[in-house]
Amino acid sequence: MLELRNLTRAYELGGERAGVFDVSLEVSQGCLAVLAGPSGSGKTTLLQLAGLLDLPDAGEVRLAGQAVSHLPEKARCDLRLRRLGFVFQAFNLVPVLSALENVMLPLQLQGLADDEARRRAGAALERVGLADRAHHRPDQLSGGQQQRAAIARALAPEPLLVLADEPTASLDHAHGGPLMDLLAELAQERGVTFLVASHDPSVIARAHRVFRLMDGKLIGEERP
Ligand SMILES: Nc1ncnc2c1ncn2[C@@H]1O[C@H](COP(=O)(O)OP(=O)(O)O)[C@@H](O)[C@H]1O
Ligand SMILES: [Mg+2]
Repeated sequence: MLELRNLTRAYELGGERAGVFDVSLEVSQGCLAVLAGPSGSGKTTLLQLAGLLDLPDAGEVRLAGQAVSHLPEKARCDLRLRRLGFVFQAFNLVPVLSALENVMLPLQLQGLADDEARRRAGAALERVGLADRAHHRPDQLSGGQQQRAAIARALAPEPLLVLADEPTASLDHAHGGPLMDLLAELAQERGVTFLVASHDPSVIARAHRVFRLMDGKLIGEERP
């Protein structure tokens, strides 16, 4: 489903080279994969390359068998909107919109009519257990509820691949496991592929596959 081939993205920081270097990995459809590694090991850089938010200096990103990293910006933007979902540490919900309106946004951007967008957003919120919070704004939701709303927003457009950057880092310790359990269920039910960056042990323990990064290099792969 997702293949990263010899990806390099280097930053020069006062003479020091940082970034990711010659990373190759493959994630199959329906897999819940975790990029693990300490802060600064290159997890976010790799997610941004996989999510077509950044361009590699060398190597390529392949999605469903197609080389996508060097497509023109318009085509990459279209893939991001229709094929990829994003979940962030800080949830990134729009504060003035209800949970339902937040989940409707990407559907409306895809051109769906409001009625259809509302129906699909409602179903997505129901799936993550937030049907009774649909009309609450983010500041009226707990952290765990906000993150589930963000997951509903990522999932509603039925993406092939969801990229999540430290999705449990803003949550209480007790929320990490249940959040990953939800992602694992969604992966199995819908065949969505997840690539999650995290150094949270409760996240890593629930992964189908773990890719360990250190200093921008892939140093190991596990199937826990
Ligand atoms: N935009 C940037 N400019 C310069 N250096 C960066 C930039 N983004 C990341 N880096 C550097 O690349 C390395 C990997 O960073 P990052 O991918 O954010 O790691 P992680 O997400 O694992 O904490 C770090 O040394 C970081 O300082
Ligand atoms: Mg990071």
